[in-house]
Amino acid sequence: MKTWDGATAVVTGASSGIGAAFATALAERHCNLILVARREHRLRKLATDLEHTFGVRARILTADLSIPADVERLVAVLSADDNPIDLLVNNAGFATHGPLVDDDPARMREEIAVNITAVAELTRAILPDMVRRGAGAVVNIASTAAFQPIPFMAVYGATKAFVLSFTEALWGELEGSGVTALAVCPGATDTEFFDVAGEAASVGRRQTAAQVVAKALGELDRRAPRPSVVSGLANAVSARLPRYLPRRTTIRLTRGLVAAK
Ligand SMILES: NC(=O)c1ccc[n+]([C@@H]2O[C@H](COP(=O)([O-])OP(=O)(O)OC[C@H]3O[C@@H](n4cnc5c(N)ncnc54)[C@H](OP(=O)(O)O)[C@@H]3O)[C@@H](O)[C@H]2O)c1
Repeated sequence: MKTWDGATAVVTGASSGIGAAFATALAERHCNLILVARREHRLRKLATDLEHTFGVRARILTADLSIPADVERLVAVLSADDNPIDLLVNNAGFATHGPLVDDDPARMREEIAVNITAVAELTRAILPDMVRRGAGAVVNIASTAAFQPIPFMAVYGATKAFVLSFTEALWGELEGSGVTALAVCPGATDTEFFDVAGEAASVGRRQTAAQVVAKALGELDRRAPRPSVVSGLANAVSARLPRYLPRRTTIRLTRGLVAAK
């Protein structure tokens, strides 16, 4: 098992759910943390808890990743840091649900900015130093939503398809460099995600955030991590299905699952 002892990880969306579980699991492995999200009080509490419990250093950086200036500021702070970043977990993200014709254009822009633009820009900013050192990992949280179009969650599904494709392409660019790129695809997970997206966005049995993180860290523990992993056996099976079905069938099936509620 990789210990991450004394390493430094940046975790975005660390104020709840999968991000907070990542931070906790990494602190258990003695990894120092830089925690990013908008809700400062949540980040501060988590950082204090992890410092006390595991004796790691946990720093917080508040940023709204839908705002380009905040992403730029974050990149500037991280780049100015003397400590190299060993692990970047691009986890912050959210979903909207409903017919595209009713989408609030500003909210749609935010969804694309957080789920796509911030992921690409943070990766682009932090990766060169990892490549120079021949070590490090970028973990991007995609979703089982990445494997097929999702009517009534058209933007979200497309953002996660971007994350999966982007990360797997990087895996190809980085093979043999000592740096890992890993896309993690959770299915429904019991977090605050559905407070934001609405219960209608929930399909299938929910995993815990800790299960998703165990799958991700387990993959990084492997001698040669794969480009992507799906968390949960049922999710892995359903993620493969679209390969064998006509496209129209897949889209109609997904429409039934998401719109039915
Ligand atoms: N839960 C699921 O069923 C599920 C399934 C597949 C994939 N995922 C993915 O897993 C990732 C984590 O989601 P979760 O399930 O843990 O949901 P969550 O509990 O709602 O956590 C989302 C995190 O993202 C942060 N975030 C949202 N908008 C942000 C913004 N504009 N700027 C900075 N941070 C922002 C939130 O922090 P603040 O609100 O404090 O900013 C929070 O820490 C997301 O990328 C999501 O798409 C979730």
